[in-house]
Amino acid sequence: MKAFPIADDARRPYRIALIPGDGVGPEVIAEARKVVDALALPVDWTELPWGSAYFHEHGRMMPAEWEEALRTYDAVLMGAVGDPSVPDHISLWGLILEIRQRLDLWANLRPARLLEGIPTPLAGVGPADIDMLFVRENSEGEYSGAGGRAHSGHPHEVAVETSVFTRAATERVLRLAFELAEGRRGILTSATKSNASRFGYVLWDEIAAEVAADHSGVRYERILVDALAARMVRDPASLDVVVGSNLFADILTDLAAAIQGGMGMAASANVAPGTDAPGVFEPVHGSAPDIAGQGIANPSGAIWSAALMLEHLGEREAAGQLIRALEDVCRDGPRTHDVGGEAGTVEVGDAVAARVGA
Ligand code: NAI
Ligand code: MG
Repeated sequence: MKAFPIADDARRPYRIALIPGDGVGPEVIAEARKVVDALALPVDWTELPWGSAYFHEHGRMMPAEWEEALRTYDAVLMGAVGDPSVPDHISLWGLILEIRQRLDLWANLRPARLLEGIPTPLAGVGPADIDMLFVRENSEGEYSGAGGRAHSGHPHEVAVETSVFTRAATERVLRLAFELAEGRRGILTSATKSNASRFGYVLWDEIAAEVAADHSGVRYERILVDALAARMVRDPASLDVVVGSNLFADILTDLAAAIQGGMGMAASANVAPGTDAPGVFEPVHGSAPDIAGQGIANPSGAIWSAALMLEHLGEREAAGQLIRALEDVCRDGPRTHDVGGEAGTVEVGDAVAARVGA
């Protein structure tokens, strides 16, 4: 990830907003905060009580002035939102999708690496075979929000959901993906569906070929998204950086999360490189109402997201320390039950914090 140090004055603390959110969100965010505190970096945390409980009290997921509020922070660390008492399209559009769009956090970076000690459902592969970085276009595509409904309740009721692909947004995310591939194993796989869909994905493929011409050190390949899903299962070792549209990379990264040990392991960064918009860092999983309140959620994805946040803030060394501590704990335990252990959320967070401080 591109780093641009925010704190010129080393004594200025980082201002980090926490949006713990709903369900297991607050449980995993408490552990992520704990492990960052164990690094003894200067951090000012502010907890924002936005989410479904806020919705029931105020009729909205976050206050009307949310944007001015968030722009005063260096970064945002978020749990998850979503509760059975609020329709999912309201909780998602009322918070995370709104934030991604209005702050124009156009890149969603999702590393999918199998850590030692974590079981994968794929037979015959190990940590050396699974090390991918997904770059998801995060501002438009199939989630542009353009569309409408008419003739409500009638037999001829209709809903239109329009994908939007602009040259500017497509090119910026492809350029970032090529740059990231240059810093890794030098392979960039671009997923589209430009056989069946004739406009947006064809534009995407054309721009990818143009950007590839500027990055001769990167081996570029394009692949149809359905074939890529199969290849992720059959030959994950062949993949390095994968770039895709909002919907495609959303789906593929749940598959990637399963391959790396489950939803509890996966981390993400919503960022706008080259701007001063605060990045939003969040585990890939949702609020997991089925296990909320039991103290058994895996905090690894949230802790990993905190490491991505530190990297983005320019704290590379601290980020590396955090990742190594997480790797140690995954290898040696304790582990939560979703990854084959018996430990609780807090036990895992304590173990990572102890390794960080060691
Ligand atoms: P989910 O990710 O919450 O849960 C899927 C499965 O993974 C469940 O079986 C759950 O127990 C398990 N799981 C999730 N996180 C885990 C963790 N940390 N440790 C161990 N197991 C874990 O997805 P689901 O059930 O589709 O959605 C639940 C709610 O979350 C919905 O309201 C949905 O809209 C919301 N959601 C919010 C997201 C966000 O805030 N960015 C992302 C995805 C879903
Ligand atoms: Mg998803």
